[in-house]
Amino acid sequence: MSFEYAPAPESRAITNIKPKYGHFIGGKFVAGSKHFPTINPATEEILSQIALAGKSDVDAAVKAARKAYNSTWSKMPGKERGKYLFRIARILQERAREFAVLETLDNGKPIRESRDTDIPLAAAHFFYHAGWADKLEYAGLGSSPKPLGVAGQIIPWNFPLLMLAWKVAPALATGNTVVLKPAESTSLTALLFAEVCQQAELPAGVVNIVTGDGSTGALIVNHPGIDKIAFTGSTEVGKIIARSVAPTKKSVTLELGGKGANIVFEDAAIDETVEGIIDGIFFNQGHVCCAGSRLLLQENIAEEVLHKLKKRMEKIRVGDPMDKNTDVGAINSKEQLAKIVELAKVGDAEGGQRWSPACELPKKGYWFAPTIFTGVTSAHRIAREEIFGPVLSVLTFRTPQEAIEKANNTPFGLSAGIWGEKGSRTLWAAQQLRAGVIWTNSFNKFDPTSPFGGYKESGWGREGGRHGLAAYLKSVSNEKGVM
Ligand code: NAI
Ligand code: MG
Repeated sequence: MSFEYAPAPESRAITNIKPKYGHFIGGKFVAGSKHFPTINPATEEILSQIALAGKSDVDAAVKAARKAYNSTWSKMPGKERGKYLFRIARILQERAREFAVLETLDNGKPIRESRDTDIPLAAAHFFYHAGWADKLEYAGLGSSPKPLGVAGQIIPWNFPLLMLAWKVAPALATGNTVVLKPAESTSLTALLFAEVCQQAELPAGVVNIVTGDGSTGALIVNHPGIDKIAFTGSTEVGKIIARSVAPTKKSVTLELGGKGANIVFEDAAIDETVEGIIDGIFFNQGHVCCAGSRLLLQENIAEEVLHKLKKRMEKIRVGDPMDKNTDVGAINSKEQLAKIVELAKVGDAEGGQRWSPACELPKKGYWFAPTIFTGVTSAHRIAREEIFGPVLSVLTFRTPQEAIEKANNTPFGLSAGIWGEKGSRTLWAAQQLRAGVIWTNSFNKFDPTSPFGGYKESGWGREGGRHGLAAYLKSVSNEKGVM
């Protein structure tokens, strides 16, 4: 018997997208001068015009943040700051549907994911950090940890509101004020968040949001009035930022790329593992820094796993992100699609065997079918470089030692997965892996209580948990606030 899915489209009526936006500075929306379009990558429809912040806008935002820091926020008792964070968290929950629909329209990710992952986790980050605001003395970071001052925060397009929450919630809980720049292709939920700040009656200037591209980001990074830079994005830009701040007193955290190894041992529960592989690489179209983009299969089970993986991939529904049945949505931008297409061609040229299930992709918009490459070795570019798309590179190994060597043979070190029944081997493997986050018999599990960050080219510092607080505080052991 065959089952058909009826369309189950989410309505966009709940959103109120303005034709044009400005910046959010000192608690008010101010007009921008130049603008650029933001589009829905699933349809190429222009959703709105976003302002491009220049020097005077960034100056104004830093000034507003400094004023708020000096006059109110750094002086306010933690229990009062916490109340604002709780209020923001509750408003995010109340307006969750509006945020989810807006995120999906601007980003291209399936509504199921923005509704069930991005927005609830963003609210969870504010709840978690609200709880810390009045308990910082007990965080084990010194007897009276102090904020750093004004934080400049630059975020990517893959989890727009969630990355905002990862940045803003700990900064505010610890008494810092912020100037945040969303990515140029996904500014809308940050601008809606600005409305939430107004609704929560957050003191003016505590959160400032300026929109723009890399040139705006560079103005923030190089601004002398900023004490800390927090960045999530490409390793390439992370290196530029590290060079820019090196001669200054700014402290910095960098969350960069990854090429996560998902290791499957011969005793793994295959059906569950296949679900984890799918989640590891096809969640959010593979636009995930900690994606399990390298699958390492023990040789004696490789054939069975690949057979089941392909069968499962045939069931993935690619298409309209606003449809509640969709699993994989649109690639976020034309530029990102071009990068994925190019690296996949490199995979072909280097001798990998490409396979995708038959699937009809929409005519308009940016799409890439879920893809696996077998016959990949550690030397291939598709095993080394971040593709940041729905493309999985499959390698094999014979012994646990070989699995570890292959997994660690990467310039990155953000995430890894281990699948297998034997606990002692799992613990042994986790100790050998040079990766910041390691999941066992699961993948892509996120929680605000758990620190997240990388080794090597995956970045500096941690976000989330107690470690994430330390990155926004001066303490006896951390005088400069360098993490
Ligand atoms: P990107 O690193 O250029 O952009 C991330 C953010 O940095 C954006 O807000 C952007 O406006 C800003 N930015 C760009 N240049 C800057 C500069 N010189 N100074 C300060 N801020 C700057 O990433 P892009 O170009 O969107 O994606 C390229 C590749 O980077 C992707 O294919 C993927 O491999 C990787 N990437 C990794 C992410 C992660 O979460 N690890 C997130 C986004 C991209
Ligand atoms: Mg870029």
